[in-house]
Amino acid sequence: MTNSVAELDLPEPLVVTLGNLKGGVGKTTSAFFLAGYFSQVHSLRVLVIDADPLSQTGYSWYRRLTKGEVEMPFTLIAFPSRHVGDCIADNSADYDVVIVDAGGESADIFKAAIPSTDELVLLTSVSPSEVKRVPSTYRAAEEAAVDAAREIRVRVLMTKVPVTMKNGVNVSTEYRTQRAHLENADYDVFKSYVSAWKWYREAADGEVGEGAENPLLDLGEYRQVGDELVAPYRAAARLPIPPVSPARQPQEVPA
Ligand SMILES: Nc1ncnc2c1ncn2[C@@H]1O[C@H](COP(=O)(O)OP(=O)(O)O)[C@@H](O)[C@H]1O
Ligand SMILES: [Mg+2]
Repeated sequence: MTNSVAELDLPEPLVVTLGNLKGGVGKTTSAFFLAGYFSQVHSLRVLVIDADPLSQTGYSWYRRLTKGEVEMPFTLIAFPSRHVGDCIADNSADYDVVIVDAGGESADIFKAAIPSTDELVLLTSVSPSEVKRVPSTYRAAEEAAVDAAREIRVRVLMTKVPVTMKNGVNVSTEYRTQRAHLENADYDVFKSYVSAWKWYREAADGEVGEGAENPLLDLGEYRQVGDELVAPYRAAARLPIPPVSPARQPQEVPA
């Protein structure tokens, strides 16, 4: 067990499932960047399970990076099967964090991952048709969780968010409208969101060759998303309370 596991008081391992019964919402991208977060920020041993039966984006991305001699800070295995629960169990002794990229097309595989999951992250872009799918993905998870022995926290992460900044606030109408819909429907929505940003797009699509950089060295907004993800596990009570600095006294003004 590393220090970080103790500091964060994580389940061993912490199982994070990324889902939405729909493709193209940023599941694979989020799986990679969150794997980068846990491995680089917290020095944890991270496994990504690519459980998407149709698209092999995760697997080929990983393969391209390792072939380009980019040292990946985590391990990826492709396991697009309804036995994904066994895959999680069989690897749980060797990893601190397991991230399941549940793909979009197979409700069966997604549901099979749920009973082993601690944190379910439902991803959606701001497109109204995608936001409308969040409840059905939620219900599928709820059905699958019936026999789960653990409590599963479900949160929604908004991805590919358009950004129009005004006085430090994102005033994009699409973003604000869809966030309000989700919150009014009582979804727990991550405060941080993932902007539509070419950095994320190019991370997976970009050419990686000799001397190429590891795109995950810049975690972008996934740094905040990761911090929010682990916030409930911070063992605050066990950490020494930082010393309170004495209040600054106003200086005497020499006469
Ligand atoms: N935040 C983002 N901004 C811009 N493009 C993104 C973002 N997240 C993902 N993409 C791009 O969108 C496409 C779908 O993302 P992907 O992670 O493969 O989604 P999924 O796994 O849900 O199908 C990819 O081309 C990816 O590079
Ligand atoms: Mg994918």
